Amino acid sequence: MKTRITELFGIEHPIIQGGMHYVGFAELAAAVSNAGGLGIITGLTQKTPEALAAEIRRCREMTDKPIGVNLTFLPTVSSPDYPGYIRAIVEGGVKAVETAGNNPQKWMPILKEHGIRVIHKCTSVRHALKAEAIGCDAVSVDGFECGGHPGEDDVPNFILLPRAAESLKIPFVASGGMADGRSLVAALALGAEGMNMGTRFIATQEAPVHEKVKQAIVAASELDTRLVMRPLRNTERVLNNAAVERLLEKERRLGPELKFEDIIGEVAGVYPRIMQQGDMDAGAWSCGMVAGLIHDIPTVKDLVDRIMAEAHQIIRGRLAAFDAA
Ligand SMILES: Cc1cc2nc3c(=O)[nH]c(=O)nc-3n(C[C@H](O)[C@H](O)[C@H](O)COP(=O)(O)O)c2cc1C
Repeated sequence: MKTRITELFGIEHPIIQGGMHYVGFAELAAAVSNAGGLGIITGLTQKTPEALAAEIRRCREMTDKPIGVNLTFLPTVSSPDYPGYIRAIVEGGVKAVETAGNNPQKWMPILKEHGIRVIHKCTSVRHALKAEAIGCDAVSVDGFECGGHPGEDDVPNFILLPRAAESLKIPFVASGGMADGRSLVAALALGAEGMNMGTRFIATQEAPVHEKVKQAIVAASELDTRLVMRPLRNTERVLNNAAVERLLEKERRLGPELKFEDIIGEVAGVYPRIMQQGDMDAGAWSCGMVAGLIHDIPTVKDLVDRIMAEAHQIIRGRLAAFDAA
């Protein structure tokens, strides 16, 4: 399937694996790229630029297909060494970067100078237009359904994607709630040229996370996520658990008085404990509503092949039949 996204990134299928903290290691990125999509290493999960450089080398040993690196510009306690991370990306010969969080304008000249394609992930049309204006090659439009940070506008993809299509000249992928061939065809119908998946790729054989995380996603329904940190305007969609219940109780009790320090126990440094040790109640971890559509733990290749086969089948079968009628 050829789209402006497959052309831009030199990939076979219009499927991207979004950066995920403590999930987007070399193993997953390589598996997605080997399956014909674009696999993305999560930059900030690597504690130093040197560690990112080593992770890129490790990924290169597992695939010769295009790979990307996610650079997240979120409010963090200590400011990461972004110039160092960008040096690791450039020197590692990576040609695709997924930016997220704040506007990447400051880093565009150096990325563009090295021929790197930039796809900025954003949750509103106004931010997508800004990304286009500052020279991003594409955007990943993240609807309210998404796991992680859906922003503060709460616009779901059935509205957000066609609004993006009305407004943008650069290509975009649909992100949030994407799981299968139906998602891909729907995304294409609404004007996207591919899709980005987070949660779905965690429940795969190759995702280097604890088995309990994958099982939790399979067990969850579309009703099992919660929005946390809304009072801090840093909303995150997470899977409900004991820590999330505690956090939400603090949010109710403290109201507008809530400060980050009040919930630090539930959100800071919890990812390695959950993703690597399988300590499922250690804290709040991102998960999309799409968990309700995830019922198995296939290999990445089986998942991607299944998505593409289903997408073609829907287009040629179900949709063509409606058209003929
Ligand atoms: C466990 C987890 C961790 C994530 N970490 C990041 C991150 O560090 N940076 C980022 O830009 N997006 C992150 N995301 C968001 C994903 O890249 C993607 O945009 C989102 O998961 C799409 O929604 P979906 O889960 O419904 O597919 C994360 C998502 C999950 C589920």
